[in-house]
Amino acid sequence: MVNDAAAPIILEDEQPSCESPVHPLIAGRRSILAFSSTSVEPETLAGLMEAARWAPSSMNEQPWSFIVATKANKSDFDRLLGCLVEFNVQWAQHAPVLLLSTARLTFESTGELNRHALYDVGQAIANLSFQAMVSGLVVHQMAGFDVEKARREFSIPQDHEPVAVAAIGYPGSPASLPEKLRKRDASPRKRNPLTSFVFEGGWGHSAAWAESLGLTEVQIKRTGPRMLPPATQSPT
Ligand SMILES: Cc1cc2nc3c(=O)[nH]c(=O)nc-3n(C[C@H](O)[C@H](O)[C@H](O)COP(=O)(O)O)c2cc1C
Repeated sequence: MVNDAAAPIILEDEQPSCESPVHPLIAGRRSILAFSSTSVEPETLAGLMEAARWAPSSMNEQPWSFIVATKANKSDFDRLLGCLVEFNVQWAQHAPVLLLSTARLTFESTGELNRHALYDVGQAIANLSFQAMVSGLVVHQMAGFDVEKARREFSIPQDHEPVAVAAIGYPGSPASLPEKLRKRDASPRKRNPLTSFVFEGGWGHSAAWAESLGLTEVQIKRTGPRMLPPATQSPT
């Protein structure tokens, strides 16, 4: 198998750009577009599922289910790929794994609406994403897919909502991307300032302690790949 994996990314030099220090797994996570064709070992994939499994959820309902399609099963992979919007197909086709997350919208015990089902699925995927980082993998989530097509293709019952698709794999070389995607991949990551979303006392009142940081819009410049510690590098 071709190993075109770029060095896994952790951007130590992104850290100082953050308003407060955050763990490198958080500062270094990004939704990259270039994937290596290196496949993901079943044990590694199982580790990601295990991380999702241990996410907290309202009433411990664990409303998530995942349809995982690897390139080892090309027909499954192509069926999920075929649900993506064209923009996403361009780059996600090169990832070795696609994952469709779904949420059970009602409580199993009572049948009533679970208002936090999507929230819980998001937490499970966040867990999965950081476990992926530890394994040298990247996760790029997508809302750009045809929900009803996915429902039909994979026989998803009506009380389970297809939430998002994620492309998972080892990072590849941005040089492999077409010009337009390469530009997007290299664009700075932007985040709103804390004062715009951290309130105290009432809506719209920025928390004083957040304001005192005096920082405006944060831009994290992408400065190219950095090595993860050896234990977390992708296999050669
Ligand atoms: C629920 C969700 C849906 C997204 N949908 C898409 C998508 O359809 N296509 C895409 O290229 N990126 C998609 N993204 C990636 C976001 O654009 C990305 O997370 C955001 O720009 C911040 O960049 P970062 O993840 O590198 O920090 C999505 C992310 C999330 C969490």
